[in-house]
Amino acid sequence: MHKGFTLWFTGLSGSGKSTLSERIHKRLQAAGARVELLDGDEVRTHLSKGLGFSKEDRDTNVRRIGFVAELLSRNGVIAITAAISPYRDTRDAVRARIGSFVEVFMDCPIEVLAERDVKGLYRKALAGEIPHFTGVSDPYEAPVAPELRVDSSTEDITESEERVWAVLKDQGLIPLSW
Ligand code: ADX
Repeated sequence: MHKGFTLWFTGLSGSGKSTLSERIHKRLQAAGARVELLDGDEVRTHLSKGLGFSKEDRDTNVRRIGFVAELLSRNGVIAITAAISPYRDTRDAVRARIGSFVEVFMDCPIEVLAERDVKGLYRKALAGEIPHFTGVSDPYEAPVAPELRVDSSTEDITESEERVWAVLKDQGLIPLSW
């Protein structure tokens, strides 16, 4: 029916990873797919409880997510991940292990994220109250050749969803009839 693969969302906090990944997750479930969503915030309350935001801890978090995604993917399940995953080398190492890997870069100008500030974290980070905040006082290394780049500041969510869906079909990962 479908292959096992990993759909990896990366991007700054508030860039829309969770929202778009949830829509794709629901759509795959509705189509009858075997699919799991590993959301960054949820992973940090279970699998990665206790980890902070140093480079080392973020890499550990991302490798753990990659490990679980790999187990799922190789057993025919679709694994969707949505963590900032800021370091290119670490993402690429996960990609190399998994093989069947689709990277979606959620791109959004920092000014727009700071303006939206859904969780109120950018205001605090810009005021110097959160050290090592990604995009403000900590690095984010954008993907060089993601399978898809989504600009959530200009694109409508339904349009983004369709574009992700089209990539999965183009790559032969889900049936064309879906
Ligand atoms: S990652 O870097 O390890 O991939 P992850 O996606 O799990 O990050 O967690 C990011 C979420 O943690 C953000 O959406 C935000 O709510 C919260 N957070 C708390 N502190 C930070 C920080 N210093 N930098 C980025 N996000 C932070």
